Amino acid sequence: MTLMEDSVGVGDLVLLEPLEEEPLLKNLQLRYENKEIYTYIGNVLISMNPYQQLPIYGPEFIAKYRDYTFYELKPHIYALANVAYQSLRDRDRDQCILITGESGAGKTEASKLVMSYVAAVCGKGEQVNSVKEQLLQSNPVLEAFGNAKTIRNNNSSRFGKYMDIEFDFKGSPLGGVITNYLLEKSRVVKQLEGERNFHIFYQLLAGADAHLLEALKLKRDTSHYAYLNQKVSRVDGMDDASNFKSVQNAMTVIGFSEVEIQQVLEVTALVLKLGNVELADESQANGTSASGICDGRGVQEIGEMIGLNSEELEKALCSRTMKTAKEEVVTTLNFTQAQYARDALAKNIYSRLFNWIVNRINESIKVGSGEKKKVMGVLDIYGFEILEDNSFEQFVINYCNEKLQQVFIEMTLKEEQEEYKREGIPWTKVDYFDNGIICNLIEHNQQGILAMLDEECLRPGVVSDSTFLVKLNQVFSKHGYYESKVTQNAQRQYDRTMGLSCFRICHYAGKVTYNVNSFIDKNNDLLFRDLSQAMWKAQHPLLQSLFPEGVPTQTSLKRPPTAGAQFKSSVAILMKNLYSKNPNYIRCIKPNEHQQRGQFSSELVAVQTRYLGLLENVRVRRAGYAYRQRYGPFLERYRLLGRSTWPRWNGGDREGVEKVLGELSLSSEELAFGKTKIFIRSPKTLFYLEEKRRLRLQQLATLIQKIYRGWRCRTHYQLMRKSQILISSWFRGNMQRKRYAKIKASVVLIQAFVRGWKARKDYRKYFRSGAALTLADFIYKSITQKFLLGLRNNLPSTNVLDRTWPAAPYRCFNTANQELQQLFYRWKCKRFRDRLSPKQVEILKEKLCASELFKGKKASYPQSVPIPFCGDYLGLQGNPKLQKLKGGEEGPVLMADTVKKVNRGNGKTSSRILLLTKGHVILIDTKKSQAKTVIGLDSVAEVSVTSFKDGLFSLHLNEISSVGSRGDFLLVSEHVIELLTKMYQAVLDATQRQLLISVTEKFSVRFKESSVAVKVIQGPEGDRNGKLKCKKKGSRCLEVTV
Ligand SMILES: Nc1ncnc2c1ncn2[C@@H]1O[C@H](COP(=O)(O)OP(=O)(O)O)[C@@H](O)[C@H]1O
Ligand SMILES: [Mg+2]
Repeated sequence: MTLMEDSVGVGDLVLLEPLEEEPLLKNLQLRYENKEIYTYIGNVLISMNPYQQLPIYGPEFIAKYRDYTFYELKPHIYALANVAYQSLRDRDRDQCILITGESGAGKTEASKLVMSYVAAVCGKGEQVNSVKEQLLQSNPVLEAFGNAKTIRNNNSSRFGKYMDIEFDFKGSPLGGVITNYLLEKSRVVKQLEGERNFHIFYQLLAGADAHLLEALKLKRDTSHYAYLNQKVSRVDGMDDASNFKSVQNAMTVIGFSEVEIQQVLEVTALVLKLGNVELADESQANGTSASGICDGRGVQEIGEMIGLNSEELEKALCSRTMKTAKEEVVTTLNFTQAQYARDALAKNIYSRLFNWIVNRINESIKVGSGEKKKVMGVLDIYGFEILEDNSFEQFVINYCNEKLQQVFIEMTLKEEQEEYKREGIPWTKVDYFDNGIICNLIEHNQQGILAMLDEECLRPGVVSDSTFLVKLNQVFSKHGYYESKVTQNAQRQYDRTMGLSCFRICHYAGKVTYNVNSFIDKNNDLLFRDLSQAMWKAQHPLLQSLFPEGVPTQTSLKRPPTAGAQFKSSVAILMKNLYSKNPNYIRCIKPNEHQQRGQFSSELVAVQTRYLGLLENVRVRRAGYAYRQRYGPFLERYRLLGRSTWPRWNGGDREGVEKVLGELSLSSEELAFGKTKIFIRSPKTLFYLEEKRRLRLQQLATLIQKIYRGWRCRTHYQLMRKSQILISSWFRGNMQRKRYAKIKASVVLIQAFVRGWKARKDYRKYFRSGAALTLADFIYKSITQKFLLGLRNNLPSTNVLDRTWPAAPYRCFNTANQELQQLFYRWKCKRFRDRLSPKQVEILKEKLCASELFKGKKASYPQSVPIPFCGDYLGLQGNPKLQKLKGGEEGPVLMADTVKKVNRGNGKTSSRILLLTKGHVILIDTKKSQAKTVIGLDSVAEVSVTSFKDGLFSLHLNEISSVGSRGDFLLVSEHVIELLTKMYQAVLDATQRQLLISVTEKFSVRFKESSVAVKVIQGPEGDRNGKLKCKKKGSRCLEVTV
């Protein structure tokens, strides 16, 4: 939200149109009625007292205002505080915040808001927070002792306060100093109707617990105390009791010790009690007037409390010791004097207590002298006062306000206009009321009212308030701002309101009529020495310390400075202080006299705006420039916004500023170039510059960050890379070294082996181990020799049937041994064969043939093997008869034997002689030798035999044989193996045909035209005597049991 938007009326009176008093008031009223209590005139803040709590304060708003510039948000006291604080922190300029306005206009509240804002935005930390707490907590304490309810303000400050808050270079608070100005101490003993004494008295009575009251010997009821106005003891909306607790707490926070707090309360109670000391007129018979204490108990109690003899106190209250150079004279005081003395004592005690408290707070918040600091001063002084009956207090208060107005005039109206002139800026002068003349009227060293008052106080002779007035009338008879009955009379004016004992000053804020009564007294501010000495004598440490002048030995006759003089000099110091700082104005305005919310009294506000010179302020502001600065610092601050001025600028400051602003192309109306300073018309331009600068700073910060980060990353990377290279080089080196070492070790090992091997080869002959081979060789040879020789001597018999062979003595000879055995056996067999005769060869050939034919086929074969084939079983050689049987057959008889012929018809057997020749088989009946059957071998087609041991066989003849008609022959021979072998060979020799010999148990025999099936059965073992049984089974079947 900006100032322009959403605003009620105008937020800045500079924008007001037309610029007249009435629209100005209307604008303020409109805003006030819409609860917009703050309005700007440029950088001056106008604050209207809302008389109600508005929801525009607190952390949320503080946070908002700290983040925005002055003109970005609605006018607010926080915005002003923010500008002041930032200027202090960032531009290193000491600040002061001048809060002015009438009593009850809201100055004190404003000062508290400023302080709370600054406390909230400045630095944090334990130390800082405790300083902040102490600074903030000084308020309730000072308000309790220095504020009171007046007709205008329920919480009116009855003292002036200027507080310097000191910061370190970072803007964190370090501490502070509080200066207080002239407490309105007359209030202690007397208050106007409807007003109260200082809050603390009521707070103490209402808030102290019974125990504390007892200790202080106080009664809770306020009506008990003469100094407390009987009519008003309570203020609406103010809780004295709880405030008392807050005050006690605040004192603890600030650093008051328990004892100190107790003593402060004791002194406070003492003041109340003093008020109750009743005096009586004790005029003596000789006419001398005197006074006395009515009720001794009160004084007794006071004496006990402060550790002072009650008689001494009484004496001090009721008499006075006059000291001249030569002697001491004691005079009694009359009743009025005594009362005056009592009240003076009470006022003095209280005001000194107040000063002591301020000093004590200062001690706590003091900053070490060594530290360089920036200062923000907050001035909350009592406001301009016009009462019905104005006295010395109002006079000095108004004087002070007059001075403050002068500061304002000097710094905003006069100085500003003069500056334009100095700087050669075209300027039409704005007229304003300069109150210098009024200040002069009061403070002039010789011709000022204060000076004359002092003079009157010091003057010997009869001095009274009226002589003072006479003098004033003389001196200021022609003064335009001074009036009195006398001057009015001289000008023949008639004024009913002007009393005889009064004079009137036309203050900037209005005419005020002062009654001169008690001016001299109050200015003298005298306390009889007896009283201060009595107080010093008291055993109470705090009280004693409040009256240092009471030390009897150090009595000096020199007068202390008067109250007026003191005040004037402290105001002068204050002014000097304010002039040295950058001022920030808060001008508080009271909207009505009744402390009523929402009420807007135009007349009242008009008076205030008039004397505050707001209209003039707006005029100067409007015509002038919101901001100015010397070229040098300005260039330094905004240099970074220009291309040509950043980062280096070698030209002059002014040229530099022109360059920067030229580049930003600001409108020429906004700027004026003075001789030494640049002027900027509207704050908006300044805030624009600030905003640009802020953004630029961010940019630059980002740039620096970027470069720094880049640099950091780069160096870090380079370092890492370097390290990485180093590590990898070491690692590689190490790896290669290890590898090399391994290879080398292997090479050395191989080398060693090879060398060793070579060496061993060369040296083997010299080695014993070499002998082993030789020995082994030798031994091997020798055992081979032994084996072979042994074998020669131990050869087995040459009998071919003897297969024995000596075993090899060593396994290694096994193969050789077998070879040799084989060799020997073959040799034996060969030799055996070579020795055989042709006949034997023939026999063996037959045997071989028999084996081929029957081995494994016929059971009787194995028996036939060892028996040599004899061929002639009939003794044919020696029997010619038998020779004949052969007939005409050529060649020898191969086989002659007796066989049995089985009759195929009935199975009966009959003997026959069988002769086998080279071409025939001849069967001869043994009984009838002539009957014979000759079978040509070529007609024998097949022979069948059984596999048993029997001698049965069948000759199967070709069908067309000579004896074919008779059929096949079934014969039995005892030498069937030999017979059939020979027949086989004969058939082979004769016909080159291999005779088919089938071994079978079933075969058929041709008989006449038909055939008979023969079936051979193995009979029981025992029955075998070469005999067989043939049984005819039917005509076609013959069963033979063998
Ligand atoms: N900003 C504000 N908000 C609410 N109330 C305020 C504000 N300013 C002043 N007041 C009211 O006005 C009264 C008088 O204000 P104060 O600051 O004591 O006046 P001054 O110091 O000028 O005499 C306060 O007690 C308070 O009730
Ligand atoms: Mg105040």
